Amino acid sequence: MVQHIPVLLNQTLEGLAIKPDGRYWDGTFGGGGHSGEILSRLNNDGRLLATDRDAVAEERAGRFSEDARFSFQRGTIQVMTEEVAAPLDGFLWDLGTSMMQLKDPERGFSFKDDGPLDMRMDRRQETTAADLVNEMLEEDLANLIYKYGEDRLSRRIARQVVMARQQTRIETTRELAECCKRAYPKKHHRIDPATRTFQALRIAVNDELDQVSDPLPKAVAKLGVGGRAVIISFHSLEDRIVKHCFRELAANGPYRIVTKKPLVADEQEARENPASRSAKLRVLERMPDGWTAKRKGGRYE
Ligand SMILES: C[S@@+](CC[C@H](N)C(=O)[O-])C[C@H]1O[C@@H](n2cnc3c(N)ncnc32)[C@H](O)[C@@H]1O
Repeated sequence: MVQHIPVLLNQTLEGLAIKPDGRYWDGTFGGGGHSGEILSRLNNDGRLLATDRDAVAEERAGRFSEDARFSFQRGTIQVMTEEVAAPLDGFLWDLGTSMMQLKDPERGFSFKDDGPLDMRMDRRQETTAADLVNEMLEEDLANLIYKYGEDRLSRRIARQVVMARQQTRIETTRELAECCKRAYPKKHHRIDPATRTFQALRIAVNDELDQVSDPLPKAVAKLGVGGRAVIISFHSLEDRIVKHCFRELAANGPYRIVTKKPLVADEQEARENPASRSAKLRVLERMPDGWTAKRKGGRYE
């Protein structure tokens, strides 16, 4: 069975500053690595609500079903933010994909294995990556690859996609990866030519950026005094949203940015778990009403 190794585990637990009798929300349960550690720090009065949009995460959550302090609900961060009860002592969003998603070729997240071009975290959702690749106008597809994948060869990739789909519908990860490869110069070895296009499609299929920007201020508003928000992001677009949102909240309300700079994996973790290399963790704390961040030279104190 594929296991997901939780990234930045110590930093997450320190970031949450767990109170044994606190109420916590893990919005991205995945394989439950972070959730398990949170639970082990709670006493009988503590509570953990875990949620995830993926059915596989729901299955994995079954291992905690006997624990009265734990409950699981399937749903997106956006929907669950509306439903979760205040006040929270902390919440964690470990964004991105789990190893169970990445390593299963049937899910279509990885260009390293061949499989259906799917990429839906929630398979009840209608639109797949194949739908986007086959149905978008060339220009829109190029813009999407540029905006969400930050790939400067987006136009050439979109051209290759359109040429390929004129022959036959693109259905597999390998077919799309081949289009990306054809668009890249022969001697480009820095990253796989498909990396950025796959990221762009995954973000679009799962509406990943709106899933952070829209609910983040609402979820933060559910923190009680001393409550912590811990967000781990895996690409710069997502991290930028978190950074700006935290800054705005701290500038206008009783919030303290705990991590002046995002926390990243140390050498050992980066070596042992390559998935941790792009992870950035930011923490915000809800302060008592009336507290304002003093600014000095643009830095918060
Ligand atoms: C990186 S994994 C989390 C791993 C988890 N922390 C662990 O230790 O096993 C990300 C998980 O979040 C879920 N996810 C990502 N974005 C989501 C969203 N907007 N709403 C709900 N779940 C989301 C994915 O389905 C995936 O299971």
